[in-house]
Amino acid sequence: MVQATVFLLVLSLALGAHSLSVEKCNLIGHWVNDLGSNMTILAVDEKGNFAGLYNTSVADHPNEIQQSSLVGSLHLTNPIDQPTFGFTVNWTFSDSITVFTGQCFVDKDGKETLRTMWLLRLHVDDLENDWKATR
Ligand SMILES: *[C@@H]1O[C@H](CO)[C@@H](O)[C@H](O)[C@H]1NC(C)=O
Ligand SMILES: *[C@@H]1O[C@H](CO)[C@@H](O)[C@H](O)[C@H]1NC(C)=O
Ligand SMILES: *[C@@H]1O[C@H](CO)[C@@H](O)[C@H](O)[C@H]1NC(C)=O
Repeated sequence: MVQATVFLLVLSLALGAHSLSVEKCNLIGHWVNDLGSNMTILAVDEKGNFAGLYNTSVADHPNEIQQSSLVGSLHLTNPIDQPTFGFTVNWTFSDSITVFTGQCFVDKDGKETLRTMWLLRLHVDDLENDWKATR
């Protein structure tokens, strides 16, 4: 099942000359979603590749939660306007991977929101258990 989540920008990080200046919807910054998970997008390069860190607030084993790294791709258009993007989180505390796909929206007050959907792939021991591995 595909799950939806919404991220709101908490603060934008001031970064140096290497970061991409995006007029509408800058992914760089600290984002918090509707479940209380948060992520920091550290930098977006000139090709739209980006990296960051993800803190989930929900997991099967919440006592084991640790910050995990993410890498993604922002679809650059000219001009950049409410771009689409995708990223993969490599969980450090669990044998699983989550992929997100989404779009950055700007409302009329200039507030930025990320609308995303995600899929989680869990490790299973054999092909017979494949049916329950994705959620
Ligand atoms: C993740 O949470 C830890 C502990 O609260 C915090 O130190 C860290 O900055 C957070 N990372 C991100 C990417 O927000
Ligand atoms: C980020 O999320 C982690 C895990 O839920 C939480 O411990 C931490 O306080 C949050 N940090 C911020 C800055 O939102
Ligand atoms: C992904 O996570 C695993 C487990 O923490 C780690 O061994 C591996 O180096 C990570 N890979 C990347 C590309 O971050």
